[in-house]
Amino acid sequence: MNNNTQSKKYDFSAYEPKRENLVAALQDVQDKDGYISEDAVRELSEYFGITRSDIYSVVSFYAQFKFKKPGKHTIKVCKGTACHVRGSGSLLAALEERLGIKEGETTADGLVSLERVACLGACALAPAIVVDEKVYGRVTLAQLQKILEGLK
Ligand code: FES
Repeated sequence: MNNNTQSKKYDFSAYEPKRENLVAALQDVQDKDGYISEDAVRELSEYFGITRSDIYSVVSFYAQFKFKKPGKHTIKVCKGTACHVRGSGSLLAALEERLGIKEGETTADGLVSLERVACLGACALAPAIVVDEKVYGRVTLAQLQKILEGLK
């Protein structure tokens, strides 16, 4: 007997259960949860009739999809040339040391995720970082410390 009594967390009824709609449904999940959980993959697999491994392949292909739950706050350090020249590497190293994580990771308490991103389009303000969608320019190590202290 299979277990059809498990309640569903997601509603994909807006989509015809066709493979071409999978990416849009994945985007909905990502928008809702911030990542693609195992539960989401299971339900997508059941709804679209696509194997879980096929879904994992699609998720891996698109950089915008994440497998891990993001932290409450996300710090993005620009890896563009202007920011690199003006010390973004030192900012990243300081963040990794103070948070105890590497880029792409989330602190154990789930508070902060750390990412590196392509040019933010704020090169005149290099080095720039983004904290929860807010851009900070000409960031110094002292300012970085204040930003970290303000995250709760
Ligand atoms: S290189 Fe960092 S904002 Fe452009």
